[in-house]
Amino acid sequence: MDFERFIQEKVEEIRRVVGPERVLCAISGGVDSTTTAFLVKRAIGDRLVPVILDTGFLRENEVQDVVSTLSGYLDLKVIDVKDVFYRYLLGLEDAEEKRKTFRHVFYSVLAKVAKEYGCRFLAQGTIAPDWIETVKGIKTQHNVLTQLGLQVEDLYGFSVIEPLQDLYKDQVREVARRLGVPEKILKRQPFPGPGLLVRCVGRVDLEKLDILRKATAVVEEMLLSFSPSQYFAVILDNQVISVGYEGRLREVACKYFTTGVNVKYLGTKATGVRGGSRVYGRVLAIEARDLCEVPYSKLHNLVMDLVSLDNEITHVILKICDNNPVGKYVIVIRSIETRDFMTATISEIPLNYLEKVSTKICEVCGDYVAAVYYDITSKPPATIEFE
Ligand code: XMP
Repeated sequence: MDFERFIQEKVEEIRRVVGPERVLCAISGGVDSTTTAFLVKRAIGDRLVPVILDTGFLRENEVQDVVSTLSGYLDLKVIDVKDVFYRYLLGLEDAEEKRKTFRHVFYSVLAKVAKEYGCRFLAQGTIAPDWIETVKGIKTQHNVLTQLGLQVEDLYGFSVIEPLQDLYKDQVREVARRLGVPEKILKRQPFPGPGLLVRCVGRVDLEKLDILRKATAVVEEMLLSFSPSQYFAVILDNQVISVGYEGRLREVACKYFTTGVNVKYLGTKATGVRGGSRVYGRVLAIEARDLCEVPYSKLHNLVMDLVSLDNEITHVILKICDNNPVGKYVIVIRSIETRDFMTATISEIPLNYLEKVSTKICEVCGDYVAAVYYDITSKPPATIEFE
């Protein structure tokens, strides 16, 4: 791909489409939205209005970090909309209901901001996997509207421009480099628009969100040196359900371990993908007495064997450490390797290092945490996020 030509063509296209109007751009500090803002700024200069919405689902210190990283490049306005997001989202449980509600609140807020700043256009960093997977019905990405046939002008009063919509992540990074996007943003791992909302699996409330935020900070700090493509924490309720064929699954798992193994289903649903279609299925937790017995090369086969017995399983998680048997939540560490985010494999982080990360999570999150697990599922059959 000729990236210089791509930039030149997009700059001309943006000028042609936007004319003399102002353009709002909601920046998350991720590479997609920031690159979009840099492109629009190159095209129309100060008629770009860059904002960051503080939705209440961002990570520790995220707003301040993004504002300071981009200062000198973009004059970001911070818009605190935590109250409205919490009003509509706290208490929701179903993954797609959360995503669709988030999308609606997000664009309703942006509609008001656009009106206030006199913007007739919204520029956003939608990329190819976002709309491809949304159109296929795998999950509703927060920033996909027109591709679903939604009449954005009627609904929200602005038109959407998406200059990166045919690119994949590695191509966006190349465009970003050429536009002078700061290195810190280029190196940032992706973070979904609905943020911690989709990692607070099942019913979402402020206590759960607070613990997730702390666990996320530990995982991001301690796994950084491994440079995975994406790495984060997830929180689930510590509930177990029985489906009746745990015995069969245990027999299969036992073939991979020489010492005792236990398997159980957690009570929360999670998203996966099978044959290109969405599965909103189950999380299977495995506990093995001696973790170091099974090499990573075999864990993938273990997962596939389990999924072939129960194709409702979307994520298989391996217990790394126990903390408090009556803790309300379990934390899952997820770390994956991918180029295009359409498929992914798990990061082969040494299990004894994952024990250190888990111990730190328990220290920071305290008695709320029953146990810490590592997600050993590739995409497919899981998706990268749990919801
Ligand atoms: P999944 O979970 O679909 O994730 O395998 C693929 C990539 O997309 C990110 N992701 C999102 N990004 N808005 C975004 O901007 C969203 O609604 C969204 N959902 C998932 C995810 O973090 C991963 O990088």
